[in-house]
Amino acid sequence: MNKGKKLYEGKAKIIYSTNEKGLVIQHFKDDATAFNALKKANIEGKGVLNNRISEYLLNTLDQCGIPTHLVKRLNMREQLIRQAEIIPVEFVVRNIATGSLTKRLGISEGTILEKPLLEYYYKNDELGDPIISKEHIYSFEWAKKSEIETIDQMTMRINDILQGIFRGIGIKLVDFKIEYGRVWNKEKEINEIVLADEISPDTCRLWDIKTEKKLDKDRFRKDLGNIIEAYQEVARRLNIMPEETNISEVNFGKTIPLKFKKK
Ligand code: TMP
Ligand code: ASP
Repeated sequence: MNKGKKLYEGKAKIIYSTNEKGLVIQHFKDDATAFNALKKANIEGKGVLNNRISEYLLNTLDQCGIPTHLVKRLNMREQLIRQAEIIPVEFVVRNIATGSLTKRLGISEGTILEKPLLEYYYKNDELGDPIISKEHIYSFEWAKKSEIETIDQMTMRINDILQGIFRGIGIKLVDFKIEYGRVWNKEKEINEIVLADEISPDTCRLWDIKTEKKLDKDRFRKDLGNIIEAYQEVARRLNIMPEETNISEVNFGKTIPLKFKKK
C-alpha cells in the first residue's frame, strides 16, 4: 500500500490518499488549537499519543460491536482508515456540566447530569461550530432521520463503554465529542454509519476521579501547563505506554521517548 497525495488538512490531522480503493491515511499532527483556532500551539508528541490512544479506544469500541472507520495503526503518527463521507455534525455527550454548557445555560460547574445529555453542533469552522437541534439536521439534509436514530443509539452505547473504560483507570469521562461518516457496503449495497475521526484527550474531558485533575485539552485551553504529561498519564493508565517511560523526564520542545507496548 502506497501513500498518495494530501486530500484534506484539518487543525489536528491530515488525510492522504492511498492506492487502495476506499482506504485513506489519517495523520495526527502535533498542532493544537482552541476557541476556533484563535489559540494555536505545537505540542511535541501530542499527535503520537492521540494516534495511539484513539487506536486503542476505537479498537475496543469495535470489539463491543460499534463499527468504526479504523482499519489499523500504521506507525507512530498514522492510521489506515476507511474513507467516509463525514456527516457535518459534531455529537457531544455530557455526563458532568462544564465548558460551554455552563457558560451558555448558567448550569453550575461540576453538576452531575441525571442522564447523559446529547447535543448537536454544525461542523463549520467559519461559523464557529454553532449548536443546532435535530430539526436543523433534517431541514438542511445534513443527515437522514434513520441515520440520526442509529447515531443517537450508538453514541449512548459509546458513552457507556467509554465511561466503563475510564472508570476502570480512575478517570471520570466528563464529556466528549465524536463524529460519524458513511461508508459504502458493497455486499449490502447500502451506506453504513461508522464512528470516524478520533477519540483522544483532544476530544474528551477527562478528570482524575480522586483529585479532579484535568487530563485533557483543557490544560491547553486554560493554560494549565503539563499537557503532554497529562496525555501520557492517560496512555499509561490505559496500559498502552511502557512503565519504564518516566513522564517527569519529558521536556517541552524536546523529542519524547515514546515507545508503545504492543497489545
Ligand atoms: P464544549 O464544552 O467546549 O462545548 O466541549 C464539549 C466537548 O467537546 C469537550 O469534551 C471538548 C470537545 N470539543 C471538541 O472535541 N472539539 C471542539 O471543537 C469543541 C468546541 C469541543
Ligand atoms: N478544536 C477547536 C478549535 O480550534 C476547539 C476546541 O477544541 O476547543 O478550534
